[in-house]
Amino acid sequence: MMRDDMERILLSEEEIRSRIRELGAEITADYAGKEPLFVGVLKGSFVFMADLIRSVDLPCGMDFMVVSSYGKGTKTTGAVKIVKDLSQDIEDRDVVIVEDILDTGVTLSYLTRYLSNRNPASITIATLLDKPERRRAAVQAKYVGFTVPDAFVVGYGLDYAETYRNLPYIGILKPSVYGGK
Ligand code: IMP
Repeated sequence: MMRDDMERILLSEEEIRSRIRELGAEITADYAGKEPLFVGVLKGSFVFMADLIRSVDLPCGMDFMVVSSYGKGTKTTGAVKIVKDLSQDIEDRDVVIVEDILDTGVTLSYLTRYLSNRNPASITIATLLDKPERRRAAVQAKYVGFTVPDAFVVGYGLDYAETYRNLPYIGILKPSVYGGK
């Protein structure tokens, strides 16, 4: 049923799974001897976060933030609001921000600056998807699952109007679903 809303499947469950294993191995090697703190940006990152941390073979902490997002539209407003902040101190911690998608970069450039002010030992970004064509704010993710074209994607945590987050794959939504042609 949901498949009828999909123009095409961009990334299958298997592709996502194997790429996340690679990212987890990379992070495990890069943070050897450390105890990184993974900070998931809700809601979109929760599925990726759950799979990523299980691919990391290190002691680690985790926390979540909620920031304002698109609402029901498919275009970013440029405004970032912290709805829920971290529940712990990050001073001297190695922070890995976990995001579902790096689009304009507005959210992550803001968050990186916001968290840097708390004197963590380091901050990096792990994003499942990167849409570089849409970048408006300078931000670089150290760990990128997949570079994707400029299309609205859903599934694997990503929503359109709070729907489709539970799809196990990532698909491109038919523009007709959100009022396009
Ligand atoms: P940015 O601030 O423009 O980089 O926006 C990042 C946020 O926008 C992501 O965390 C998503 O919640 C949302 N977003 C951007 N592109 C998409 C998309 O194609 N599908 C679903 N959500 C998206």
